[in-house]
Amino acid sequence: MADSPSNPARRRFLTGAATAVGAVGVGFAAVPFLSSFQPSAKAQAAGAPVDMNIGKLAPGQMTTVAWRGKPVYVVNRTDRMLDSLSEIEDRLSDPHSKVASQQPEFATNLYRARKEHERYLVIVGLCTHLGCAPTYRPEVAPDDLGDDWRGGFFCPCHGSKFDLSGRVYKGVPAPTNLVVPQYVYITDEIIRVGGTEEDLA
Ligand code: FES
Repeated sequence: MADSPSNPARRRFLTGAATAVGAVGVGFAAVPFLSSFQPSAKAQAAGAPVDMNIGKLAPGQMTTVAWRGKPVYVVNRTDRMLDSLSEIEDRLSDPHSKVASQQPEFATNLYRARKEHERYLVIVGLCTHLGCAPTYRPEVAPDDLGDDWRGGFFCPCHGSKFDLSGRVYKGVPAPTNLVVPQYVYITDEIIRVGGTEEDLA
């Protein structure tokens, strides 16, 4: 399978990879980086891929990595979160991710991820309205978001709401789903944001 981390060629590639491995923290805060292993600022600005180790990201938690000057959120979704995705589709503007610019083709599924029932969500943390950073709100039915909230992302600027696949709700200012960037799994625990299958050859 293309994404299998057991591929010996990929392991060799990983050993020699020059891209950075970002540290994964816990909670919802931005994560400090291992600066000595980061690509140069110039390389990052030019779009160099960034590796992040998700091995310690607990179920339900989110971490953030910078890529091309943008925050990229990675969420380790629980079974409850994955089950909620099909429960709310009538409240979403584009539940089937038909706007092609929102994601690579591999992410047009319910999970907006590389695999069916994929726990990890990888999205650009910029609201598609005017670019604020949505907050991660994994709670069910919090007072401020209502009884039918099943977890997702809430934009504090003008109130746009997105589900746990980054799909936008109807009736909010944001016109489209949050963007899924290109990414690949280098191993089960390392995601290369900005990477493609060519990195695995
Ligand atoms: S920038 Fe997010 S709702 Fe306006």
